[in-house]
Amino acid sequence: MFDPSTNFLNVHEWAYGATEVVHILSLALAIGFIALVDLRLLGVKLGQASAARLLQATAVGSLAGLVVAIMTGFMVFSTDPVRYFNHPAMRFKLMMLVIAIIFNYSIHGRVARGTYSAAVGRSVAVVSLFLWVTIVFSGIFYSFS
Ligand code: HEM
Repeated sequence: MFDPSTNFLNVHEWAYGATEVVHILSLALAIGFIALVDLRLLGVKLGQASAARLLQATAVGSLAGLVVAIMTGFMVFSTDPVRYFNHPAMRFKLMMLVIAIIFNYSIHGRVARGTYSAAVGRSVAVVSLFLWVTIVFSGIFYSFS
């Protein structure tokens, strides 16, 4: 599977592009849903919905987006694992991704569902947005470096 010369995505040119497109669409879906909750925590009114209600409504979508983004990420990664792994931007992105996922499914979820002060909500939203934006920019940075 990790031999680049026999990798399906390297053998079929269209498959690499298609997988990248799904990678980008799914990460946009996941981060878009997470950002909705963050905007609400920052005090932006999104109809009548509370952060808890938004989290409940978007949880399946953001999880599905994350799972697909991670799967397609590893598929693209497998086309040239040594080169990807040796690049500091890719390692940084993966490290931040682990931190972001842990944060999202612990503190972020707890604060969005709970009754915490607005200051706590805003701080959590800022950290969450910072983590996801950093991951996106490390991905873009890799592609253009
Ligand atoms: C939600 C999590 C993730 C986000 C937000 C993300 C973000 C991105 C972004 C923004 C790009 C650049 C797209 C472009 O400009 O062409 C990208 C490409 C890529 N990502 Fe991810 N990614 C995620 C997860 C992963 C994972 C888990 C892996 C697996 C190791 C991975 C591996 C890759 C690879 C190999 C590329 C292609 C780089 C290239 O050759 O241009 N990604 N990702």
